Amino acid sequence: MKADALDAFRLDGKVAVITGAASGIGEATAELFAAAGAKVVCGDLDGEGAENTVKRIREDGGEAVGQACNVTARAEVDALVERAVSAYGGLDIIANIAGAMFPGLIEDLTDQDLDAGINLNLKGVIYGCQAAIRAMKHDGGKNDGGRNGSGGVILNVSSGAIDLAYEGIGVYAFTKAAVAMLGRTLSLEVGRYGIRVCTLAPGSTLTNFTTWRLHNEDGTLNQQAYDEFLDYARGLSPIGALGEALDQAYLMLYLASDAGKFTTGNVFRSNGGQTTTF
Ligand SMILES: NC(=O)c1ccc[n+]([C@@H]2O[C@H](COP(=O)([O-])OP(=O)(O)OC[C@H]3O[C@@H](n4cnc5c(N)ncnc54)[C@H](O)[C@@H]3O)[C@@H](O)[C@H]2O)c1
Repeated sequence: MKADALDAFRLDGKVAVITGAASGIGEATAELFAAAGAKVVCGDLDGEGAENTVKRIREDGGEAVGQACNVTARAEVDALVERAVSAYGGLDIIANIAGAMFPGLIEDLTDQDLDAGINLNLKGVIYGCQAAIRAMKHDGGKNDGGRNGSGGVILNVSSGAIDLAYEGIGVYAFTKAAVAMLGRTLSLEVGRYGIRVCTLAPGSTLTNFTTWRLHNEDGTLNQQAYDEFLDYARGLSPIGALGEALDQAYLMLYLASDAGKFTTGNVFRSNGGQTTTF
């Protein structure tokens, strides 16, 4: 038994790439990983937002660099991972967190709607996995012969929408379901390199994402709709809870660190029990 029970949760010496790092779950994960000792590469479509996360990490004494990255463009995702290698010498962890809601009834979906959802929520995650595997095989998997879990960790973000069906979010739900199966399949393919692949399926978590449908036409928050949503989401949870970005980041830290070294191929649900009765 280690003297400090939290040692296994440290990420000292590890290099982590995080997409969607400008806001919400990605931002919280980047800050928590840095606080745990990782060197963090923050990527986001919102490059300025990513830089703001970097600034906060540095102010708190952590190490990070930021880069604008549209995950729907393979070359930009490759460049984000290459930044980890050039800035910090390799890659140990990638958290593919960038994603968005795509509302619309299935019967109305145009090719453009379909492409937008699939490109961001599914292909963006696949690009991240592919770039990470290349980097991890190069600097980790080959050296240790794999099978000891030290080749690297890939964390992908799915959603509680794979458990609960809602009208009008079909593209979101089926791209997130695909991400869950992607992670299970990939874990079988890269385990031989010592790479673990874990998927998170967060429940309702208070971020900018949560309020996507709760605005008035002029862009202001519809307070009544917002309050009703909070009541609804809390009502689904046996403990009456709504998640915070940090709740998801704590699970990410567990999975990314040695504390989670016996995890791979699974979908982890941090959702306040919101899907328990379904
Ligand atoms: N918040 C929830 O309740 C919840 C629940 C389940 C799953 N999720 C998932 O968690 C992830 C993070 O969501 P969040 O709640 O933090 O939302 P958020 O809106 O706060 O953050 C999403 C981030 O992704 C970035 N992004 C969007 N498109 C991008 C692109 N093309 N390339 C790079 N970055 C891009 C945005 O700029 C933003 O910074 C998403 O994949 C979302 O589907 C969220």
